[in-house]
Amino acid sequence: MKNKEDFTKYWEQRISKIGNNIRSVGHKSFTNNENNLIYKAKFNILDKLSNKIIFKGKKLLDAGSGIGIFSDYYSKKGAEVYSIDGSPTAIEFTKKKAKIKIAKVAKLDKIPFKNNFFDLVHCFDVLYHIVDDNSWELSLKEFNRVLKKNGYLIILDFWKEKDSRPREHVKIRSRRKYLSVLKKLNFELVSEHELYFVLQRNYLLTKLSPKLCLKLEKAYNYKIFKRFYGAKIVVFRKLK
Ligand SMILES: C[S@@+](CC[C@H](N)C(=O)[O-])C[C@H]1O[C@@H](n2cnc3c(N)ncnc32)[C@H](O)[C@@H]1O
Repeated sequence: MKNKEDFTKYWEQRISKIGNNIRSVGHKSFTNNENNLIYKAKFNILDKLSNKIIFKGKKLLDAGSGIGIFSDYYSKKGAEVYSIDGSPTAIEFTKKKAKIKIAKVAKLDKIPFKNNFFDLVHCFDVLYHIVDDNSWELSLKEFNRVLKKNGYLIILDFWKEKDSRPREHVKIRSRRKYLSVLKKLNFELVSEHELYFVLQRNYLLTKLSPKLCLKLEKAYNYKIFKRFYGAKIVVFRKLK
């Protein structure tokens, strides 16, 4: 795809400019320490998930691996990790950071692996950066194609009520849109995990005390706070 709705060049430039640093893929306006604590909130949820979903020995695709932070996480949990990213520099950094079986420069709408190959597909903070609707839907179809039956798809996105385009390189699709496309592709919704109770959403508090914010993330254990979510990690299973 070669059009102005394709932001892979934006990522290549950003990652080469900032370098092998969490701010390349996290939030540019937060420090490394603040970004590390934001990522920790995501690891905490994956740690919880690992009680139900086995990572060890499983073939996992890190779709849009960035600098390899999650590729590294899963390889340390014993998964056989394959990584793709549209940015060549990101793939170089991923190879340096994590123990990867194969890492390739590729876009999510054309995944260079065969059908029914993976037990798990992980895709965090990437799909809302695919602003072209056709490419977004093709990417979900590709996840379906490369996953084995009963394989898990783990997505981090905003899951809001309405579509929106808050920034040029960000397009938020509604939860309803996601669920309807994924249902047609025979995915079943397994579980949802809220993120960012205050961390990252409340800029000032995150700056003042990211550690306290990370602790406050636990407030999501109380159902009453669930409607305040800022983003979610959502798990699907491929039924057929
Ligand atoms: C916000 S970063 C997230 C990186 C990583 N998933 C993480 O959570 O640390 C977005 C990444 O998605 C990649 N990306 C964006 N659009 C893509 C596409 N269509 N195909 C493949 N990678 C893409 C970018 O190059 C960038 O590395």
